[in-house]
This record gives sequence, C-alpha cells and structure tokens, in this order.
Amino acid sequence: MSWFRPSSLALGLAFSASFATAANIEVTVGKDSKLEFNPPSIKAEIGDTITYKFFSKNHAVAQSTFADPCHLQDNGIFSGFTPNASPDVAAPTDFTITVNDTKPLWFYCPQVNGNHCQNGMVHAINAPDTGNTFDAYKAKAQQAATPSTPAVGTLPVGGLRKLHIDVGFNGELMFNPNNVTELIGTVVEFSYNPANHSIVQSSFDKPCQPIEREGGGFVAPFVPTQQTPSGVTFEVTLTNSDPIWFYCAQTKKSHCQSGMVGSINAATEGEKTFQAFKDLAAKAPPSTIGPDTPVVGALKLNGTFIANVGGNVLDTTTLDPALGGQIPPPDMNYPPYIGGMAGGNQPANYNWGDNITDEAVVILRTLQYIDNFIVVLLLEGFNQLSQGQWSDVYPGSITQTLGSLVAQSLIHRRTYTDSLQHFGKDVVSICDSFDFAAVLTDVDTWLTTVLTGLHLSIGATLDALTLLASSDPWTTPALATGLGSQARMSALVNLMQNHVAAAAPREVLIPNELAASYIAAHYATDKSCAPPSSTDSAKSFPALVIKDKTVQPDTNRVTAITIEIPKDTTGGLFIAWLGPWGGLKYTSVDATNGTAGVPDSLSGHVWAVLTNKDGASAADLDTVTVAGPEIMWVSQQWSVSDF
Ligand SMILES: *[C@@H]1O[C@H](CO)[C@@H](O)[C@H](O)[C@H]1NC(C)=O
Ligand SMILES: *[C@@H]1O[C@H](CO)[C@@H](O)[C@H](O)[C@H]1NC(C)=O
Ligand SMILES: *[C@@H]1O[C@H](CO)[C@@H](O)[C@H](O)[C@H]1NC(C)=O
Ligand SMILES: *[C@@H]1O[C@H](CO)[C@@H](O)[C@H](O)[C@H]1NC(C)=O
Ligand SMILES: *[C@@H]1O[C@H](CO)[C@@H](O)[C@H](O)[C@H]1NC(C)=O
Ligand SMILES: *[C@@H]1O[C@H](CO)[C@@H](O)[C@H](O)[C@H]1NC(C)=O
Repeated sequence: MSWFRPSSLALGLAFSASFATAANIEVTVGKDSKLEFNPPSIKAEIGDTITYKFFSKNHAVAQSTFADPCHLQDNGIFSGFTPNASPDVAAPTDFTITVNDTKPLWFYCPQVNGNHCQNGMVHAINAPDTGNTFDAYKAKAQQAATPSTPAVGTLPVGGLRKLHIDVGFNGELMFNPNNVTELIGTVVEFSYNPANHSIVQSSFDKPCQPIEREGGGFVAPFVPTQQTPSGVTFEVTLTNSDPIWFYCAQTKKSHCQSGMVGSINAATEGEKTFQAFKDLAAKAPPSTIGPDTPVVGALKLNGTFIANVGGNVLDTTTLDPALGGQIPPPDMNYPPYIGGMAGGNQPANYNWGDNITDEAVVILRTLQYIDNFIVVLLLEGFNQLSQGQWSDVYPGSITQTLGSLVAQSLIHRRTYTDSLQHFGKDVVSICDSFDFAAVLTDVDTWLTTVLTGLHLSIGATLDALTLLASSDPWTTPALATGLGSQARMSALVNLMQNHVAAAAPREVLIPNELAASYIAAHYATDKSCAPPSSTDSAKSFPALVIKDKTVQPDTNRVTAITIEIPKDTTGGLFIAWLGPWGGLKYTSVDATNGTAGVPDSLSGHVWAVLTNKDGASAADLDTVTVAGPEIMWVSQQWSVSDF
C-alpha cells in the first residue's frame, strides 16, 4: 500500500514554488586563474540572491555606474578583497547580494595589481540587450584611464560577506579553516559536523577555557549529530579586528588539547601567532564550556533560528521519536531541547493567588485529561510521519513544524501540572488504554482526529476561561496562551488536510465535561479512563450516534440529521447546536424517527449535543445532556445573522 497522496504532493509543490521564486545564483570570480566573472552577465528577478565565490589571486566585487567603470560608485556594493591561492577550490569566504529591483547593476574587480577591470573582469546583472549592453560596459572598462578603486582593506558594504568554517571537518578533530584573516563586518558561519562538538571563544593565554571578560565571549553549545553537514550552524559577526581565539570544549578525547582550536585575525609573527596558541592548547588543563557563560551569536538549523538552551547542550535537532514509544507523563521533566523546539519553556511562576477553588481543580484536571489525549495522539502520528508508514506523505519541513508543535503541546500540558502541583493537587495520569487502532490506519483519519481533539481542547479552554475568570483570575493568561498554541497547531493540521478554510476550528465554547466525555466515549474503552471530573458516573455521557444526514442537493448543506435515540429516554428530546461566538441553538428531535433539523445559520464544523430540555444555557448544558457532543460538517457557506 502506498501512502503517496496527490493532494499533499500538490501542497508540497505549492510550498516550494513560493520559495523557488527567489533563486540563488552562483557566480565564480577568477576561477581557473581567469580574469573573469562566470557567468559574466546574468538576469535576475527581484528577491533573487547572487553569491560570489572567489578563486585564485585576490579578487573583489565592486559596483560602478555604467558611465564610470572600474570605480566604486557612491554607496556602491563592495565585497572586500578575498585572497585565495587555489584556482579551483573556492575561498571559505563568499559574498551574497540581494536584487531589489530590475534596474541594471554593473560590477568589476578592483584589483589594481594586473588591472583586472581594465582587462575585462567585469560583470552585469540585468544589462539591457540593446543600448547600454554588457559588451558596451566591458568596452568602456577597457578604456578606463585612472586606476581602479577601492583599495585593499576597504570593508564590505551592501551585501553579506560570509566566512564558512567547518566544525569537525572530515570527521577530524579540527576547524577548517582554523587560521584566517578576515574583515570587520564579515559574518562567520560555523557548520557543525559529526559527532558532538561545540565552539567556545577563549583568550590567547587560556586556550581551552571560556574567555573571562565583561559580557563574555561566544559559546555555541554541543550539537550531537550523525549528519554531514548537520544543517546546524552558529553565526558571529566580526565587529572589530582584534584576534579571536576559539576551541571545541569536548572533553571526551580532549578535542581542544588535540588541536581542535582556531583563530581569526591572529598575528602572523611575534608571540601570539596561531601556532603559539595551538601549542599552548596542547598543554592546557581539561576544557570547560561554562554553562552560565553568556552566548553571543545565532544558532540556526537549516537557516531557521533555533533556541539555545542555557548556553550549554542542545540535545538534538528534531523531536526524538522515541518519546512516542514512551509517552511522557504530565509531570515528566522534559529534555531541554523540548523547550528549545517549543520556543521556550513554561514560566516558573504564574502569579498564583493564595488559593485555588475546587471548581478550578476539577476544570484544570479535565483540561489535562483532554491534553493527555492530544499528546498521545500527536506523538503516535508524529512517529508515523517522521519515520513510519507515512514518512513520504509530507515534506520534511511540515513534519518538523509539527514536531515543534508537539513540543509546544507538551509544554502546554505542563502548565496544568505546574498549577495543580503548586496547590498540592494530583495531576491526571495518562490513560493507558486510549484506543487509537482505528485512528492510525491512515493519515487522513489521524488528521481528522487531531483536529477534533484540538476543537475539543479549544472549546473546553474557552469554557474554563469563562468559568474561572472571576474566581481564579490567575488562570486566565496561561489558558489564553494555551488557546494561542492550539490555534497555531489547528492551522497547520488543517493545511495538512488540504481542506477549505472553513474547516479550521472556529472557537466554539464546549462545556469542559462534555469535551472530556467525547474522548471517553470514543477512545477510552476502559472504565478506568473516565474523565477525572466524573465522580458521579452520570457526568460521563455516551456518544451521540448520527445515523443519517439529509443533504440539500444544490448546496450540499446538511439540513437535518437522524440520530439513534438512546434507550430509556422519556419526554421530549432536543439537539443543542454549539456554534462560534458563543452561539447556541436548539431544534427538537422527532420522537418517531429521530430526525432533527439543522439551523440555517450553521456552517463549517459544528457540535451537536442531545438534551432532554430545550433552551438551557451553555453553562447549564451539562445538566440536561443525554448524549454527545458530536462534531459534524454542515456547510461551507455561513452567515452570522442568526447567532
Ligand atoms: C538591496 O537592499 C539592501 C538593503 O537596503 C542593500 O543592502 C543591498 O545592497 C541592495 N541590493 C542591491 C543589489 O542594490
Ligand atoms: C555531547 O557532549 C557533551 C559534553 O561532553 C555531553 O555532555 C553530552 O552528553 C554529549 N551528547 C551526546 C548525545 O552524546
Ligand atoms: C537540513 O538540511 C539537510 C540538507 O537539505 C537535510 O538533510 C536535513 O535533514 C535537514 N535537517 C533538518 C532537521 O531538517
Ligand atoms: C597561519 O596563517 C598565517 C598567515 O597566513 C601563516 O603565516 C601561518 O603560517 C599560519 N599558521 C599555521 C600554523 O598554519
Ligand atoms: C483565597 O485567597 C484570597 C487572596 O488571594 C483571600 O482573600 C481569601 O480569603 C482566600 N480564601 C480562602 C478560602 O482561603
Ligand atoms: C421524520 O418525521 C417527520 C414528522 O413525522 C417528518 O417530517 C420527517 O420528514 C421524517 N424524517 C425522515 C428522515 O423520515
């Protein structure tokens, strides 16, 4: 069986297309010892980036006007000179510019030693095909009388000059390059390779210890990885020309002492050369990284900023699928990377008041029960998507994003743990007999179930917000933050479903007991998995079974439903329809055939609850409920007029 889905393929392509509009074009400068840019003349769109790679001799990219080749124009772009002895291996430093408009851009190499510009080393972006053409510019350059500008040593401007340093180059204990001279303004990008390295700035005198000075130096955490390259990078920008010394703080195999050290702008003679630093390192005492050392720099994963945890250890770059095999209980202490993936941990203090009401305890426990369900469901699915039967369904970026949302759910659930434990109340352990067999048969069913779980959690959280706002006001900010994180996840899941926008959960208030009941009725086969608030079993309601729907042929709108009337019910039955903006409507159920009309005003996903009383408020719904709630899709068209 194949899990390849045309709809998700289309989705993936749509994604890459929107990024693909911004291309990166590579231009070599002086390759094979030739005095030329290759390609010499290019066309580029707005937003495209051009990266210049430097070879043999000592070249630079400088911007001139068409009229005055070989001279840096006012505020013109300049890469800085980039010496490189090799004719075919690019210098570790490159230069990238962004095209902002479609006007022609004229460039040249300003090296006067050999008059590179006058000898034809010119370049153009979006040169016209007639009139001021590339060839006309080149001809003008050949006649430029005065020597080229700017001079060697001038700093880069108008683009990104980047020095690339490999950390753990080729599996060896070394930085490559490890001894470079660079210009102020250059961004130094360290790329992590296997197995478990760090990058720490030291002083010359103490090579394997973090530098001691006001504000500290840069410290990039240990990144254990098996991938080459790992995609994890660390960036620092050179803000002055002082020598910089750095090392890997891995004590296993003594990386620093074994020569895994580097320098930028070290003196080439005298006492403080790179060689002298390396010699000192060889005799240095065991390395330290200093967990409290401030971090200066930016840690990124494949170009996206990632959080660094306490300046110390970034455990892994992706959600560990093993978490799914052993679902973390609500009071588990997370590995630090979970907080990193989630964009931060929960706070240490929620401004708890002096006490918590009994009602708040029941409600927070109910919300935790719902969150336990969602966490298990998410992790089971994440495992299938990241390494299981659905691993080829979505682009890796989507699965990764989902992973960070799973991390966020773990943190979200933890806010209930913190609050309950703060007041000495029990947390809700995970029901180990949630039954997901039917849910995990295919990715669509899983997505639908996740979305339903998120609907329930959002609905129950809204209920909690209204019920606790005055009695336990400290709950409001945490509950509201939780709503936000679930709304973000709904958006992603909805997108993975490739559904119409109206399918996204709209915030329907669902009494929290009913939300928990839904989970118990559908997935908790075992009685021990009843919701925590149902101390009297009457509070756990059976599922509402919708047997049939009457659909209007032209609009596809569901106009009526037919339900299974539960046994032993007497008196009139009604369906309470829960809609967004606090909307609540009732229609009666025909006692003979179980049919109930759907209010005209409803649309998208709505919730139906079977009651034995007409017109109870949302707050009192749990006192009249017979069965449900149940989610159903009504129609894509909607109006708010009736609510
Ligand atoms: C595009 O705009 C940025 C920001 O102002 C500037 O640094 C860069 O040099 C511009 N690119 C070009 C090709 O002019
Ligand atoms: C990486 O190295 C650090 C420092 O030795 C160590 O604390 C950490 O456990 C290592 N991580 C892994 C996954 O080996
Ligand atoms: C980063 O990009 C590389 C190369 O495209 C890829 O192999 C790797 O899986 C990516 N890492 C993550 C965590 O997405
Ligand atoms: C470091 O670089 C300088 C300047 O290029 C050079 O003179 C010196 O020999 C290098 N040292 C080592 C140990 O490679
Ligand atoms: C609960 O705490 C508030 C102040 O936060 C206090 O005024 C009130 O008396 C306390 N109630 C109980 C029952 O302890
Ligand atoms: C159910 O009964 C009512 C009234 O007897 C009728 O109007 C309705 O059409 C019936 N519905 C179905 C689906 O048979």
